[in-house]
Amino acid sequence: SRLLRGTLVGFLNDPGEGDTPEPGSVLHIEDGALWLVDGRIHAVGEYTTLAPHLPAGLEMVDYRGKLILPGFIDTHVHYVQLDIMASYGRQLLDWLNEYTFPEECRFAERAHAETVAEAFLDETLRVGTTTAQVFCTSHPVSVDTFFTAARKRGLRMLAGKVLMDRNAPEALTDTATGGIADSERLIADWHGRDRLGYTLTPRFAPTSSREQLDAVGGVLRNAPDLHLQSHLSENRGEIDWVAELFPEARDYLAVYERYGLVGPRSTFAHGIHLSDGERKRLAQAGANIAFCPTSNLYLGSGLFDRRACREAGLNISLASDVGGGTDLSGFGTLKAAYQVGQLLGQPLTAWQGFYRLTLGNARALHLDAHIGSLREGGEADLVVLDPRATPLLARRAARTRRLDELLFALMILGDDRAVQATWANGRCVHQRDAVPTHRVSH
Ligand code: GUN
Ligand code: FE
Repeated sequence: SRLLRGTLVGFLNDPGEGDTPEPGSVLHIEDGALWLVDGRIHAVGEYTTLAPHLPAGLEMVDYRGKLILPGFIDTHVHYVQLDIMASYGRQLLDWLNEYTFPEECRFAERAHAETVAEAFLDETLRVGTTTAQVFCTSHPVSVDTFFTAARKRGLRMLAGKVLMDRNAPEALTDTATGGIADSERLIADWHGRDRLGYTLTPRFAPTSSREQLDAVGGVLRNAPDLHLQSHLSENRGEIDWVAELFPEARDYLAVYERYGLVGPRSTFAHGIHLSDGERKRLAQAGANIAFCPTSNLYLGSGLFDRRACREAGLNISLASDVGGGTDLSGFGTLKAAYQVGQLLGQPLTAWQGFYRLTLGNARALHLDAHIGSLREGGEADLVVLDPRATPLLARRAARTRRLDELLFALMILGDDRAVQATWANGRCVHQRDAVPTHRVSH
């Protein structure tokens, strides 16, 4: 049991797109406290209100001057691509062939997968991300390894084995039936164990046969609490290829619809080149599109039209898509999202940005009963931000104290240095500098 004292910032609802948040959507307590018991938030409120009710001797971690938010969530990321970040000069399909597939071949080996899984989790926690929906490779061992590492740290994570039975190197392809058998074994071993959940993961339409996609739909029909993630409409070359491979489908989304893969727990990464009709159909199904701005810029895929998605009623989540993405940090993702928005005349506010990283992403993944907000009974996954962490941030903070301006400065100037600490499951899993602790006395 622990008390964290600092400025609490969280969301109760979507703050909207305006410069001022919708009434009642923001939780902001300047001198606040979170009482953590058994991995959960036991009480939340003003420090002075809570203080008389606290047991004497309770350890208080003093984060005054810092912002305490729900841990960040990344709805689409490839842990196995950590080591090909910053590979030069290609767009999607060449990038897959030249860098991605050769790298993914290495995950047949358990020792390699273990090293990378640990490095990935070290790095996500260092940037304040406590939950992610993670692509592994087609090797089941890449999934066992990832879940083992996440479980050891007490993290809430979603992950799954990549399904691909064609148009990829032989060392990476499974078969329609073998890929499903492997997935079912992994589901039995990992889904619902501690804080882990399974995500069915057909890579994207071009690397799965009709038989494989159909079999994935069959699994999902029998187990609708599973998640599913894939890629959709990221790159022009990809879209043309899908049209060639599936001439019977009226558009890219129709391939996934045909096999029953588009539902409320489905996340499709990118969605850059969607038609309005596709956006509406995704919205009706309750699926979400993972907006991956650093990846879209880096791979030259295009500019994501957030406004068109919102107007279609489509859920947008926010994701790094590392290794196509260039930054695991939520700040990096927000900064790129802001820049993409500026180019389209739809700049992202700090309110909307931090909402997406926390409660918005939790809702998109249907995890908001557990994470994404600072609510009593919620799981204690938290990030502690220092809005004066670097010389430039400190100079900016000296000019303003308004919360949204501090948050905006973090989103543009912040990086791992601004993450003072990360807590997961009620435990401190990353800390930058020593922080004073006191015992509560009455
Ligand atoms: N489409 C199919 N596979 C991938 C991948 O690994 N990364 C990205 N960005 N797009 C993909
Ligand atoms: Fe991706």
